[in-house]
Amino acid sequence: MTIKAGDRLPSVTLHEMGAEGPQPVSTDDLCRGRRVVLFGVPGAFTPTCSNAHVPGFLANAHAIRAKGVDEIACLSVNDAFVMGAWADSQNTGTEIRMLADGDGAFAEAAGLVLDLTGHGLGVRSQRFAIVARDGVVERIEIEPDPTEAEATGAERTLEHL
Ligand code: BEZ
Repeated sequence: MTIKAGDRLPSVTLHEMGAEGPQPVSTDDLCRGRRVVLFGVPGAFTPTCSNAHVPGFLANAHAIRAKGVDEIACLSVNDAFVMGAWADSQNTGTEIRMLADGDGAFAEAAGLVLDLTGHGLGVRSQRFAIVARDGVVERIEIEPDPTEAEATGAERTLEHL
């Protein structure tokens, strides 16, 4: 079942590239006592994700924080090495945490799997945007067409904060 407003985010371990390699990031620690925007993408370096979704959140990061958001994180079913390289290429710096849902544990537990088997991408994540407060979903949007980033984009997310 797909996660919805009022549900608690799944407790899973993601990974983030650090100076000493991939570091575990627990969703519980990330979200406890904080308001967090999590946006999910079907794949690092894919066109819509690189040309629209991540740049949109980068451009709006300050405005989103000004609405009371403590952290913005991008999740993708890729490994932490890929997410680290993507973070570098997008210059996300400290504005957006680039988190690897390498095993797809978050996507699976949240009911947000996107099966792109047959398209050469395997099992990935839907494109989504979640606003969560203290680990509970305030709002979730799932992009009807995963090659677009409108309903889940930064501008639309900002409108609802
Ligand atoms: C994209 O452009 O972001 C994309 C490409 C292929 C599959 C899913 C997303």
